[in-house]
Amino acid sequence: MLELEHTTKTHDEARQGEALDMLPTGKSTGRKLYIESYGCQMNFSDSEIVASILLDNGFETTKDYKEADVVFINTCSIRENAEQRVRNRLKEFESAKNRNPGMIVGVLGCMAERLKSKFLEEEKLVDVVVGPDAYRDLPNLIGKVDDGNKAVNVLLSREETYADINPVRLNSNGISAFVSIMRGCDNMCSFCVVPFTRGRERSRDHQSIVKEAHELFQAGYKEVTLLGQNVDSYKYSAPVAEGEEPKPTVNFAQLLAMVAEVSPELRVRFSTSHPKDITDEVLYTMARYENICKYIHLPVQSGNSRVLDLMNRTYDRAWYIERVDAIRRIIPECGISTDVITGFCTETEEEHEETLSMMDYVKYDFAYMFAYSERPGTLAAKRYADDIPEDVKKRRLTEVVNKQQQHSLFRAQNFVGKVHKVLIEGFSKRSDQDYCGRNDQNTMVVFPVDSRFKPGQYVHVLAERCTSATLMGKIVD
Ligand code: SAH
Ligand code: SF4
Ligand code: F3S
Repeated sequence: MLELEHTTKTHDEARQGEALDMLPTGKSTGRKLYIESYGCQMNFSDSEIVASILLDNGFETTKDYKEADVVFINTCSIRENAEQRVRNRLKEFESAKNRNPGMIVGVLGCMAERLKSKFLEEEKLVDVVVGPDAYRDLPNLIGKVDDGNKAVNVLLSREETYADINPVRLNSNGISAFVSIMRGCDNMCSFCVVPFTRGRERSRDHQSIVKEAHELFQAGYKEVTLLGQNVDSYKYSAPVAEGEEPKPTVNFAQLLAMVAEVSPELRVRFSTSHPKDITDEVLYTMARYENICKYIHLPVQSGNSRVLDLMNRTYDRAWYIERVDAIRRIIPECGISTDVITGFCTETEEEHEETLSMMDYVKYDFAYMFAYSERPGTLAAKRYADDIPEDVKKRRLTEVVNKQQQHSLFRAQNFVGKVHKVLIEGFSKRSDQDYCGRNDQNTMVVFPVDSRFKPGQYVHVLAERCTSATLMGKIVD
């Protein structure tokens, strides 16, 4: 799962998920909620569900944790440094809590699930610990804290998808929104903590997904990103009452088509695709609909089959290459990005070289690259020694990052001289004289403001120059 702005940006780099000031939808209690999110898009999407639940219970949101009655931090466990960042942030909350002892501090998300009640012992300022499947219980848990107790709910569920909860769009530009289509993960990649923190995989009712996409479009949104740890294994069939015929199962390709049908003006993106599951049916569906963006995030992790086997990725180098070839064949213009881990247990220099040669083969548009970080409780932590020295992991990471830099530049240069359909997202970060938005392949495009066009509209932009991460050009509409 990604933040898709810079090729070298890590997933868990903290984006402060400050809440917009929002008024309660239920009876107001005047209490203020501050929520900050770390980790993948699913966590950011979950924070919108949490905000919705608390707004329904009379809370307002605030952007300033110092004035909040309830401060939530929605956490990530994917690598050790992701957890460290959360710990550091909690230290900053501590002084605010010292000044305002009534402030409730809650830890949500994956770290809450991983550490459970141990969190309360380790971090004294924490009052509530809530796992990703227990957010409906938040009002009750806050009530317990109001009564002077600490509260924990880290039960995982086989059913919870929060399908009926209308997320409050936090920090939204009013143009792009995330829509969770499934939760959990049933793959047991040996390095990964997610199956332990998010529980079993379950897919959300397709009708509620299409309805949400529809409502977003009605509200002026122009882009939805369908989210799941492994979207290609999306599968939903409605429960069947006694005596009824079983309902047909909806797979990911069918769901994509349903969401694309909401409107040709609504762009559809998705993340993440697992190489073992991405089917030709999905690729043909992408090719069929102009509004399904031609961009696939296809994490490779390693280019070597032995390492992939140790990682329990259930595909090998040849399989991955075949899937890339299928993408190039069916959707020639498709952008492809990836995730890479360097220095996994026992990885040799030659095996690392195979990751580099895989990168040369695919020439990814973007990549998210990490040094292996052993996570307690995972299969790799139990079975294999974390035996690659830190400096070797880092050196290999630098090699991977440098290679990606060349490939990102190569891809961007290939876009120069071409006209791109861009959805204007707003002003560019650097200047309010420029707009920014993405092309189909998810590359950022910056171009001078033209008063005829506003954020939320599509424009055609001729790319004239580029850096490795950005195209610069002018509107030619
Ligand atoms: N579901 C997605 C990945 C989610 S985690 C998928 O299967 O592709 C995002 C990325 O974090 C992973 O793709 C992997 O590259 C990285 N990652 C996960 N666990 C890690 C670990 N223990 N050390 C380093 N990187 C890790
Ligand atoms: Fe983790 Fe693998 Fe599941 Fe991705 S597919 S979330 S890497 S276990
Ligand atoms: Fe996402 Fe981090 Fe959890 S990547 S699923 S928030 S461990």
